[in-house]
Amino acid sequence: MSAEPLEIHLDDQDLGRSLRRDVRVGLSAGQKWLPPKWFYDTRGSELFDEITRLPEYYPTRAERAVLAERAAEIAELTAAKTLIELGSGSSEKTRLLLDAFVRAGGLGTFVPLDVSVSALRGSTTTLAADYPGLRVRGIVGDFTRHLDRLPTGGRRLVIFLGGTVGNLLPVERAEFLARMRAALEVGDWLLVGADLVKDPAVIVPAYDDAAGVTAEFNRNVLRVLNRELGADLDPEAFAHVALWDPEHEWIEMRLRAERPMRVRVLDLDVGFAAGEDLRTEVSAKFRPEGITGELDSAGFRAERFWTDPDGLFGVTLARAG
Ligand code: SAH
Ligand code: TRP
Repeated sequence: MSAEPLEIHLDDQDLGRSLRRDVRVGLSAGQKWLPPKWFYDTRGSELFDEITRLPEYYPTRAERAVLAERAAEIAELTAAKTLIELGSGSSEKTRLLLDAFVRAGGLGTFVPLDVSVSALRGSTTTLAADYPGLRVRGIVGDFTRHLDRLPTGGRRLVIFLGGTVGNLLPVERAEFLARMRAALEVGDWLLVGADLVKDPAVIVPAYDDAAGVTAEFNRNVLRVLNRELGADLDPEAFAHVALWDPEHEWIEMRLRAERPMRVRVLDLDVGFAAGEDLRTEVSAKFRPEGITGELDSAGFRAERFWTDPDGLFGVTLARAG
C-alpha cells in the first residue's frame, strides 16, 4: 500500500506563529532559551539521525537492544490494533515492533506523528512500501498540543521513544502525561523510552561528540531562525556546550556567545554578552522509580520496566487505568 497523504495539524502558518512566539519569549528572557522542537527542519532531522549512529551516542543502541528483546512480548501483551508513535523521526527502531506485530497479526494501522514534515515524508513512504499490509497514516503535529487529535477506536499502543520525554521540563512532562492519559481509553497502552541516570562521564560525550555532529545540530537552531525569521545570527560565533546538572539530573545543551553581539530578530534587538548562554535543550535522565511514579500520578499503571543488558536505558510499558 502506498502511504496516505500526511495529515497536517501544523501548517506553515501555525509553525511561523509559534516560532515567533517562542523566539519572542525565549530571547527576551533573563536566561535566554529556545524550545527544542525548532532543531528539526530537514537538515536538523538528518543531523539527528547522524547523532544516533555516533559511537558516543549510546541511547539509540541501548533502546534498540531492549526493543529487539521485548518486541514479541509487547505485541502479545498489548494486542494493539493501532500503533501511534510520537516524535517518530525516522521510525527506525519502530520496525522491530512493526515486525513483531506483523508476525502476531492484528495490527491494522501505524500512525507516526512528528513536527518534521521531511522526516515524516521519508518514514511514511518507506514504511508503507515495506509493510504492505499496514495502513500508514502520518500526522504533522506537535505532541504538546495535538494529542486530542489522535485516531480513536480499537486497542491503541502509543510509543514515545528516544528519550524524547526527557526533553520536556518537569512541569511540561506532567502536563504531557496528563493530556496523554486524557486522550486514551482505559486499557490502552503507553510505551516510553527514557535514558537512565548514570556516570556523567558516559552521558556527557553522548551530547558532545568528538566529530562535532551534536555541535552542528545544536547550531542548526540558529540557522532555522535566520531562514524563517530573517534573523542575522552568526552560528560560528556560538560554541556548543553540554553541561551535566547534578541537581536536576539532566544534560543542558547551550549555545555560548563567544564575543559580544547585537542581533536583530523580529522586532527585537537582542544583546549577547561574551560568554552568555542560550539554553536550547535539556535532556533529563531518570531513575526507574521516578518514571513509574510520574506515570502513576498521571493515571497510568506501569506494568513492565526493562533495560538493556548494561542498564543504560529504560523502557516502560504502562497501561491507562
Ligand atoms: N523517535 C526517534 C526520534 C527522536 S528525536 C528516535 O527515537 O530516534 C525527537 C523527534 O521528535 C524528532 O523527530 C522531532 O522532530 C520530534 N519532535 C520534537 N519536538 C516535537 C513536538 N513538540 N511535537 C512533535 N514532534 C516533536
Ligand atoms: N531525545 C534526544 C536526547 O535527549 C535528543 C537529542 C540527542 C538532542 N542529542 C541531542 C537534542 C543534542 C539536542 C542536542 O537524547
